[in-house]
Amino acid sequence: MQNPINILIEEHKLITRFLSALEVKVKEMETENRLDEQFIDIITDFFGSFIDRSHHGKEEDIFFKILAQKELDAEMKEIIIKLENEHEMVRKYISQIIKSKSAYLNGDLNALKTIILDLNAFLKLYPQHIKIENDYFFENGIKYLSVAEQEEMQNKFNTLHPPAILQKYIALVDNLEAK
Ligand SMILES: [Fe+2]
Ligand SMILES: [Fe+2]
Repeated sequence: MQNPINILIEEHKLITRFLSALEVKVKEMETENRLDEQFIDIITDFFGSFIDRSHHGKEEDIFFKILAQKELDAEMKEIIIKLENEHEMVRKYISQIIKSKSAYLNGDLNALKTIILDLNAFLKLYPQHIKIENDYFFENGIKYLSVAEQEEMQNKFNTLHPPAILQKYIALVDNLEAK
C-alpha cells in the first residue's frame, strides 16, 4: 500500500518550487514598482485552488479530522492548532491580495506595497510550515492511524482531490520555471 503521506510530501515539493518562482517575481515587482496583474492571478489561483482547497483540504478536512478522534499527546495537539492557524493565515493573505489587486487597478497605487508585504509574509511563513509537517507532523500523525484508516485516507485524498489537480499545477510550475 502506498503511504498517503507521500501525496502530501509531493505537494510540498511543488509548493516549494512555486515559492522560488514567487520570490523572484516579488523582487521584480518591488524593483519595477509595478503590479504584474497576470502573475497575481496565477498566485491567487495557486494559493486558493491548489494550496488551500486541494492541499489544506487533504490535511484539514481529512487527516486532522481522523486525528481529532484519537487520544493525541499534548505536543501533537499543539502542533495541529498551530498548523490550523497558519492555514487560516494563508486564507487571510489570499483575500487581502485579491482586495489589494482590485484597489490597485482602481487607482490606489499604494496597494502594491500591501501586496508585496503580504507575499513576503507568506514567503516567510510557508517554508517553516512545510518543514514542521515534513519533519514532525506527518511522521508522528500517521502513527495514530491503523492500516485501514491509512487506506481510507488515501482513498479520500484521491476521490475528493483527484490527482489530475496536482498534474495541472505541476504543468503550471513547469511552465513558470521554463520562462
Ligand atoms: Fe499545512
Ligand atoms: Fe502541508
